[in-house]
Amino acid sequence: MIELLQVSQLPPFVVDRLKKDFTVHDFVNPADPDKLLDEVGPRIRGIVAGGMKGPNANLINRLEKLEIIASMSVGFDATDVVAAQARGVIVTHTPEVLTGDVADLVMTFILMAPRRIGEAERFLRQGKWLGGRMDLGATVRGKRLGILGLGRIGRAVARRAEVFGLHIAYHDIKPMGDLAYRSYPSLLDLAEASDMLLVACEGGQATRGLVGGAVLDALGPAGFLINAARGTIIDQAAMVAALREGRIAGAALDVFDGEPNVPAELMAMENVVLTPHIASSTHETRRAMGDLVYDNLRAHFDGKPVLTSVPPQV
Ligand code: 8YV
Repeated sequence: MIELLQVSQLPPFVVDRLKKDFTVHDFVNPADPDKLLDEVGPRIRGIVAGGMKGPNANLINRLEKLEIIASMSVGFDATDVVAAQARGVIVTHTPEVLTGDVADLVMTFILMAPRRIGEAERFLRQGKWLGGRMDLGATVRGKRLGILGLGRIGRAVARRAEVFGLHIAYHDIKPMGDLAYRSYPSLLDLAEASDMLLVACEGGQATRGLVGGAVLDALGPAGFLINAARGTIIDQAAMVAALREGRIAGAALDVFDGEPNVPAELMAMENVVLTPHIASSTHETRRAMGDLVYDNLRAHFDGKPVLTSVPPQV
């Protein structure tokens, strides 16, 4: 059987399905990585990765027979795609199948943050209602949603947000053609013109710290920051400071720089909604993502073109 290296934790139903066709070596938390690689490395032809954990250049280059890396994620920043593609190794990811669920969580965030839903639930559970009514929230309808990165997920959120009466604008490095949404040439201008700023661009080195103190100040003290893309895109320390100092009104975050560690100060704040990277975590979507990982590997090893390859990164 063809041998694969699994470098990221994956749902058991995905691993079980792969094991019917392939020999899968568990490299998620190997006790002795070198020993395992000495043993099986020369026979590994594929890697199975995830959005938060993928192979680096060292691992990729150590596996002489490596042909394909299949990541169970739309984001591929955890895998050194440049190193892989430089060696002719195919990298696949799982776009499209998770767009709806991710956009649904983001839409939930857009409603939750200004309406203070997380805080309201804590208020009730802590018995504070008995002492009087909670403070007011802010209306979402009529507000301006600025989207950083108008890809598949950004567009799916825009469609949902329009139904809720939000006005959409965006900033993207790629030309988007004729769209009904206003495009801002800079992120700073977009933040300035937004009541809510949604981070929906790719992660990785190119976007690290893109949303920093100046962007947050442009969003302003009535503005909300929403992120279900990658924690690295926001300068996390600058965001915590802006929240602490009331320079932005609040945030809703599914991703963090250094997750699963989340700054204690952030966790103690009432005006932030925090979830543990669950945007695509539904039975239906995870199954579809797992199926796509399998289908890409199967296609490749059957000599057919893969279904969803990561475009060339250089
Ligand atoms: C997953 C993700 O939580 O698709 C992505 O890029 O970050 C998420 O959907 C995770 O990476 C699963 O491996």
